[in-house]
Amino acid sequence: MKAKTLFYCTQCGNETPKWQGKCPACGEWNTVVEQPVAQTRKSGSKNSVSVVPQSVPKRMNEVESGDELRFHTGMSELDRVLGGGAVKGSLVLLGGAPGIGKSTLMLQICQQLSQFSKVLYVSGEESERQIKLRAERLRVNGENLYLLAENNLEHVVEAVHQLAPDVLIVDSIQTLYNGDLTTAPGSIGQVKECTMTLMQLAKGEGLTVFVIGHINKEGSIAGPKVLEHMVDCVLYFEGEQNMSHRILRAAKNRFGATNEIGVFEMQDIGLAEVPNPSEALLAGRPLDAPGTCVTCAMEGVRPVLAEVQALVVPSNFGTPRRTSNGFDYNRVMLVLAVLEKRGGLLIGNCDAYINVIGGLYLDEPAADLAMMIALASSFRDKSVPNDLVAIGEVGLTGELRSVSSLGQRLSEVRRLGFTKCIVPSRSSGKLVVPDGLELIRVDNIRQALSAIL
Ligand code: TYD
Ligand code: MG
Repeated sequence: MKAKTLFYCTQCGNETPKWQGKCPACGEWNTVVEQPVAQTRKSGSKNSVSVVPQSVPKRMNEVESGDELRFHTGMSELDRVLGGGAVKGSLVLLGGAPGIGKSTLMLQICQQLSQFSKVLYVSGEESERQIKLRAERLRVNGENLYLLAENNLEHVVEAVHQLAPDVLIVDSIQTLYNGDLTTAPGSIGQVKECTMTLMQLAKGEGLTVFVIGHINKEGSIAGPKVLEHMVDCVLYFEGEQNMSHRILRAAKNRFGATNEIGVFEMQDIGLAEVPNPSEALLAGRPLDAPGTCVTCAMEGVRPVLAEVQALVVPSNFGTPRRTSNGFDYNRVMLVLAVLEKRGGLLIGNCDAYINVIGGLYLDEPAADLAMMIALASSFRDKSVPNDLVAIGEVGLTGELRSVSSLGQRLSEVRRLGFTKCIVPSRSSGKLVVPDGLELIRVDNIRQALSAIL
């Protein structure tokens, strides 16, 4: 007899006997998933006493703290994003578009990890031979590195119990399946179940687990934020397919900050770390060209220089087209509106395209000024001085607002050979200006535009 399956909503927890596109309780679409038979609650068990020993509440003062046990992965850019190394007993989810280099990164860290611990690399995508060939190319040859080509979650758990590795790498969560479920691998229910099991494995055995996940076209792994809530750490590997730079960013980290980035370059022998991202991101910058301006953004505690490019052309259609790559779309609209109303540029009838070079995403308001200058420079077809950097937040009245960590940003600006920096005149705290750097202090965007364009 076929076991009866039960379905439940991942949003509100409502249980239904059959799958439905829309949850009848909360009305959300695509949230109903299958629950494994073993876990379906039997009727009447609600009040029954559990046989599993339960944990009891402890006084907080009695709970042992101490630092988490961390180890280095051999890639300091990855260690930085993880908050100073991988934590024992944690589960890290690495997401990214296909072909971005997730498998490559994971295989490369095996070299260092297998020096002092046992590593099991489970792949549902490639055969052992394929992984071995790639490992040879990446010069990974650890004695303690074990490979397993497997899709069945049960077999993976068994292998972990037998081998007792210190680190488990799963490539990828979408190819793993739990035989108790009738849905296909990669469905939300399967992905959730498999992650839950791996999470229990990590906590129970003190095992560090890295899980690779493919992102869908909306940019998330599996359903909307389903996995992100469960795991300890979510990393996204980003970059443009046709460019060699890759940026690793933490979206969630229970053991560290989330604003750090790691920069890598894809080479023919795998990923190389880029310890000096500003230089790499500015390489090949066009000189004396209208529509480009350099800014300095804080990525975690590290200042990074980035080039903002803009193209403003008269619109051929009634509604002007605006696209933004590397900036929040609404931020671009806001800056365009301020530029028209407070800067006096008749930009409202123009198409505007914004791009941040190198796949960087600038979500800091400090990059507003550079965006605005790039737009104005393209509109007036006049180039910005090559040795100038712009830092500042643009307010709705056209005023420029001070930004954090200005001193640190100025040091980085000077270190890369720039000699002029346009900044808001009101800056908080005492500022140490590096030798050889001329500060152009301005109050509002009109002053900024007349100072440099
Ligand atoms: P891969 O790690 O397989 O991507 P993912 O697991 O994220 O899907 O990387 C695939 C791409 O990386 C592929 O297009 C080729 C490129 N690559 C190199 O350029 N050099 C290398 O040494 C390796 C291993 C891959
Ligand atoms: Mg892969």
